[in-house]
Amino acid sequence: MPDDFVIRAATAADADAIDGIVRAAFAETEFGDQGEAELVRMLEADGDIVVSLVAERDGSVIGHALFSRMTAEADGAPLSAAGLAPVSVAPGSQGQGIGGALIRAGSDRLRADGVAIAFVLGDTGYYSRFGYSAELAARFASPFAGPHFMAMMLDSEAIWPQGGRAEYAPAFDRLG
Ligand SMILES: CC(C)(COP(=O)(O)OP(=O)(O)OC[C@H]1O[C@@H](n2cnc3c(N)ncnc32)[C@H](O)[C@@H]1OP(=O)(O)O)[C@@H](O)C(=O)NCCC(=O)NCCS
Repeated sequence: MPDDFVIRAATAADADAIDGIVRAAFAETEFGDQGEAELVRMLEADGDIVVSLVAERDGSVIGHALFSRMTAEADGAPLSAAGLAPVSVAPGSQGQGIGGALIRAGSDRLRADGVAIAFVLGDTGYYSRFGYSAELAARFASPFAGPHFMAMMLDSEAIWPQGGRAEYAPAFDRLG
């Protein structure tokens, strides 16, 4: 498995490359690009990006993962939360561990920043390998609640909250 790539924080100079990667990655999916590239732009404009990482190989951006600010509370108290979306790897570079490396590095960054919980909406088989659980997310009321809504306590020793609510940043409401 090639591991000749580096993961680093995205900068303003990466905006166009990220746009291209997101569009290319989602164009290949069953549903096509449903506005994920636009979502990245809106989150940036709104100042709601918490962590944005790129994977780079030979000076080219080949992957991107973004965590955005969420509003959450659990058991009656505010909970620091972030949502993972989107994750994009260039079609020619998929299946080499790049998506996984981006997700793990992003989680490490959130943990270091004191974020308590991360949410994601997606394939349970894929995200469960990073520790995301639909059972944990089901404890949170959310417009995105459902079988694909997952969550992970960033401190794996943390006691799971009994219940609460979680809302994505406003840009998610504006998705077409
Ligand atoms: C999903 C994605 C980011 C994964 O990146 P990647 O670099 O290919 O992932 P990794 O190499 O770390 O992991 C590959 C594994 O994930 C699995 N996988 C990849 N995409 C998957 C998906 N949508 N559903 C289930 N499993 C998936 C592969 O089958 C592979 O499994 P294996 O390890 O058992 O062989 C990438 O495939 C992509 O950009 N897809 C298009 C955009 C997308 O659907 N993003 C996710 C929704 S936000």
